[in-house]
Amino acid sequence: MQESILILDFGSQVTQLIGRRLREMNVYCEIHPYNKIPELTPDIKGVILSGSPFSVRDAKAPFVDLSNIKGKLPLLGICYGSQFMAYHFGGDVNGSIAREYGRASLTVVDESCPLFEGVSKVNQVWMSHGDTIAALPTNARVIASTEDVVNAAYRIEGEETYAVQFHPEVSHSVEGTKMIENFAKRICGCKGDWTPSSFVDNIVEELKQQLGDDKVILGLSGGVDSTVAAVLLNKAIGSNLHCIFVDNGLLRKNEFEDVLESYKDLGLNVIGVNAGELFLSKLKDVTDPELKRKAIGATFIEVFEAEAKKIKGAEWLAQGTIYPDVIESAGIEGATCKIKSHHNVGGLPEKMNLKIVEPLRALFKDEVRRVGRALGIKKELIGRHPFPGPSLAIRLLGAVTEDKLRILRDADEVFISSLRNWKCELPHASFPNEMADNLYDSIWQAGAILLPCKSVGVMGDERSYEYTIALRAVISVDGMSADWVHLPYEFLAKVSNDIINKVRGVNRVCYDISSKPPATIEWE
Ligand code: XMP
Repeated sequence: MQESILILDFGSQVTQLIGRRLREMNVYCEIHPYNKIPELTPDIKGVILSGSPFSVRDAKAPFVDLSNIKGKLPLLGICYGSQFMAYHFGGDVNGSIAREYGRASLTVVDESCPLFEGVSKVNQVWMSHGDTIAALPTNARVIASTEDVVNAAYRIEGEETYAVQFHPEVSHSVEGTKMIENFAKRICGCKGDWTPSSFVDNIVEELKQQLGDDKVILGLSGGVDSTVAAVLLNKAIGSNLHCIFVDNGLLRKNEFEDVLESYKDLGLNVIGVNAGELFLSKLKDVTDPELKRKAIGATFIEVFEAEAKKIKGAEWLAQGTIYPDVIESAGIEGATCKIKSHHNVGGLPEKMNLKIVEPLRALFKDEVRRVGRALGIKKELIGRHPFPGPSLAIRLLGAVTEDKLRILRDADEVFISSLRNWKCELPHASFPNEMADNLYDSIWQAGAILLPCKSVGVMGDERSYEYTIALRAVISVDGMSADWVHLPYEFLAKVSNDIINKVRGVNRVCYDISSKPPATIEWE
């Protein structure tokens, strides 16, 4: 039985962060919309109520019946969660007393409260509330205050119910992680035994039970998620796993051969399919980014389906879906829930009558990497930057031609190998990457982009009229937002020189200094 914490999401932008904090302390947790409470099985050791864009006083404010939870399980209300309990359990919430946005200084009033064990008496927290708790709920008492808000945190006597108006999950709440840890470990009694190795043992056992002697097909992309999913399945069902790796003719230099080779080292049963010509023929003269993506997606399905049909008796399709792709968030309208789903081979399961197996659906991205390391997968595979399904086609603006692909591949190779060879650590590594001792491992993602226009230059004594390469390097946590990386000038100077000297057809190199939003990571 895997002990866990249940997080009920009321739609806050930062609910996922509560989950991340718990996982970082090896406590398993699941996020569910407030109106879809799962069965309260004994493995659930406590419940956290998230923040929300709503005021509890709104007519449409999300409501949850806590009668099976409050007083029965340890409970922590955060922001909206704390106001919700005040409003519905005998207190009062007012919109006109004190609003607080941003940093605030919290003073712990009850130093014996387990929520604040090991937390400084005065510490910085992050506030974001327009409403204030004017009167505490029945049987509650204040445990911490700020200068403007007396009831900044409270607990209810006789229950393990705690509430904080600030957001302990965001990094601006300097000792917030300690408070969440206190809740999970001291108050809920979680042991914190959710480790990559324990995950591997449990999931391999589950997969064995679930799949028995069935055959499974998996589309490998060379990326971290599908690789880790494949190795886990291989451990569980061995040669009944059939992997398909498609060369769409749009991969980076030597990528198909290199990745195929490393898969063989991992003992995976992989069929490499060379479909470059087909993809390029479907992309001929297509210039619109969306049409390019659609053409590639449809061709991928066509190729994959044809290969999969050769594997007689396959019943399952495995996918490298990870947790952020499956979390349902509480929709803004409260009752309606949006699902963000991302399936690289969308459309296939229904078409081919396959059941879906997703061994990584409980994991965040960095956890997938940790599991990969626990499985002994090589650093080169685990630390690979994300790479989009449509591949270089969306980094080559306009129509895709063999010649332009050659230029882009060569320029990308110079850029990426230079990042790998530049020994140093950026001060703001994007994810806790224990392996980072060079630029490549210190950033989230990088690549070269070929612009669709030529400009004038001078090479030797000759006038040149050639293409421009843009370089992109970003840090990010999940790809949803990203900052451009402040790469050292000396590095940029060297890469620019190397690209112009070595790559025929390029006479100019630019560096993309836009963040997401408003730009996106990929150019198309
Ligand atoms: P954008 O360009 O939307 O990219 O800022 C965010 C992240 O998603 C990756 N990406 C894709 N991945 N199929 C994928 O598997 C796609 O069609 C796709 N488009 C973008 C992108 O590389 C970045 O990591």
